[in-house]
Amino acid sequence: MIEFQKVGVVYNNEVEALKNIDLVIKGPTITGIIGPNGSGKSTLLKAALGVVRASGKVMLDGIQANKALKRIAYVAQKSSIDLSFPITVRECVALGTLPSLGLFKRITREEWESVDKALEIVGLSEQSQRQISALSGGQFQRVLIARCLVQNAEYLFLDEPFVGVDMVSEDIIIKILKDLKSKGKTILIVHHDLNKVEGYFDQVVMLNREIIAAGKTAQVFTVPNLKRAYGENILVERGE
Ligand SMILES: Nc1ncnc2c1ncn2[C@@H]1O[C@H](COP(=O)(O)OP(=O)(O)OP(=O)(O)O)[C@@H](O)[C@H]1O
Ligand SMILES: [Mg+2]
Repeated sequence: MIEFQKVGVVYNNEVEALKNIDLVIKGPTITGIIGPNGSGKSTLLKAALGVVRASGKVMLDGIQANKALKRIAYVAQKSSIDLSFPITVRECVALGTLPSLGLFKRITREEWESVDKALEIVGLSEQSQRQISALSGGQFQRVLIARCLVQNAEYLFLDEPFVGVDMVSEDIIIKILKDLKSKGKTILIVHHDLNKVEGYFDQVVMLNREIIAAGKTAQVFTVPNLKRAYGENILVERGE
């Protein structure tokens, strides 16, 4: 269970990115975090990870979240990994073992086995020796998901994992995430494609600096709430 208690984030003493966020997310779940550009979606994940200064508290099963970071696998928006870094797909996935290892320990044979298993799950076994610079956007996103699998965290925070990703990769990733949910994981996904919301998420957090609505998708993903979050033009954007 993730609990945001009166969480607020102000950047540079002027931009109030999040205001008074009270939110409880009970897992297992795939929860979509949606809202317009600049509505604080990425900031919400960063506040939980403790990478931005926030007022209030974020608790993970009753423990302050930034003290339980090993339990969270995180993929940032437009990943900050340098794609030109000379590293193979297999090595990149193996970095997922580091949070539990400490930086300079050797990766064990068992861990390499879990790396290869993860590559198989995301369908990249054949590309395992390839440089990451030689992957498509969708393949690279699958590498990052494989790394989360290796990390074997109970919580997954993914920020816009489907941006720049081909349909094949998107389907593979969503199937993996649904499988992880069935194994008890709690998954938070920042997402902007409203067409996929009902198919992908069992819960939705609709955000526009404040919580507009949060809960089961069918109850939250409604036209009145969408108008409150995105403004009246939302129906035009949805092509209705
Ligand atoms: N490091 C920062 N310094 C100053 N302002 C920031 C910083 N990061 C984000 N902001 C501002 O805070 C607000 C929320 O940003 P955030 O990135 O959380 O939004 P978002 O909903 O993820 O947007 P997007 O859909 O574009 O990814 C925006 O107004 C943004 O410009
Ligand atoms: Mg964002």
